[in-house]
Amino acid sequence: MKSMAAYREHFPIFKNTVYINSCSYAALSLEVEAAFLHYLKDRHEVGADWIEWCDRLERVRALFAELLSAKSDEIAVTTSASASLSAISSSLDFSGPRKKIITTDLAFPTEAQAWHALKKYGAEVVHVKEKDGMIDLDDLEKIVDDQTLLVAIPLVCYRNGALADVPTVRNVARKHGAMILVDAYQGVGAVPIDVAEWDVDFIVGGSLKYLLSTAGVGFLYVREDLIKQSNPTQTGWFAQEDIHAMLIHDNIPASNARRFEQGTPSVPNLYAVEAGLKMILEVDVKNIRTHVAALNERLKAGVEKIGGTLSSPQNPDQHGAMIAIASTDEYALVAKLAEKNIIASSRDGNIRISAHFYNNNQDIDAVIEALEENKALLG
Ligand SMILES: Cc1ncc(COP(=O)(O)O)c(C=O)c1O
Repeated sequence: MKSMAAYREHFPIFKNTVYINSCSYAALSLEVEAAFLHYLKDRHEVGADWIEWCDRLERVRALFAELLSAKSDEIAVTTSASASLSAISSSLDFSGPRKKIITTDLAFPTEAQAWHALKKYGAEVVHVKEKDGMIDLDDLEKIVDDQTLLVAIPLVCYRNGALADVPTVRNVARKHGAMILVDAYQGVGAVPIDVAEWDVDFIVGGSLKYLLSTAGVGFLYVREDLIKQSNPTQTGWFAQEDIHAMLIHDNIPASNARRFEQGTPSVPNLYAVEAGLKMILEVDVKNIRTHVAALNERLKAGVEKIGGTLSSPQNPDQHGAMIAIASTDEYALVAKLAEKNIIASSRDGNIRISAHFYNNNQDIDAVIEALEENKALLG
């Protein structure tokens, strides 16, 4: 396997910057750049290359499946995580006794909004509180009951990097016959996911963060035995069993997870996503997790030394790739780091430092040095 240092050479942004912002958007690789150019070349040379584009869609589906150790038939390729969530929400049925949807106070807005929008169909939306920055599992136990239809959790919280204990949440939900959804966007590509180990019903995510590519493509995993009972009303011709049937007097959804798709795929972005996924699979998410964990131990030790306060859990098993550090003015702090060509981001009173396999110890040391120089902005 190539070293992480060798992979870094594929990301030109590191020539001039310390890019440590993958929780927001990944660095651009030469491979993803070439993939975008390939799309433009195909447009010049072939024009409308539908056969190739549909093949590419299937290749991307297979790569997402490989990443999650799932089957291709369990994967829908969508246009965003929000589109995945909306497709799922449109398939939920509130005609029975199960009307409760449980989300958490750690949810990304789009995830919680998908459920609140269902109140007009009779959904009752309940939020599990956070405790010490994590999902409060005692509160979850109290709230889940036999009227619960779905429990939705973020794998990694976008605000503080907290990593959910998926098996424990699944066990609590399953005890009451509820379905489980994991919004994996802040984890996928940096935290290993194996659908057999998780045994959840839905997983959503997208491509622009740790999967190295671009806005415009999301994914949705649906557990195989749930697919045929799910009838999304957010649908379209690409969701039909036979896309070419051009039916207008019926809706015959695909027998696999493609039934959660809608219209023309995000063609230019599929080129980029394929390139990004290939690199992630080549590097291997297990190796990424190990590499980033070591960087984050260095970062956490450095933050402690300069008197900063972690907003992420201290325990490495309880956070993802992103580490949140409290700030009195997170926007000013991000701007101060940018003056030194260090690119980070912020949310909710924290600066977010999110390393990936292309980051190294020197990046971490540069961040710590810049934070120390701006100690007045640390919370
Ligand atoms: C955890 C999480 N879920 C969902 C989203 C939204 O994704 P999209 O814009 O693809 O709908 C984000 C975006 O940052 C996120 O971090």
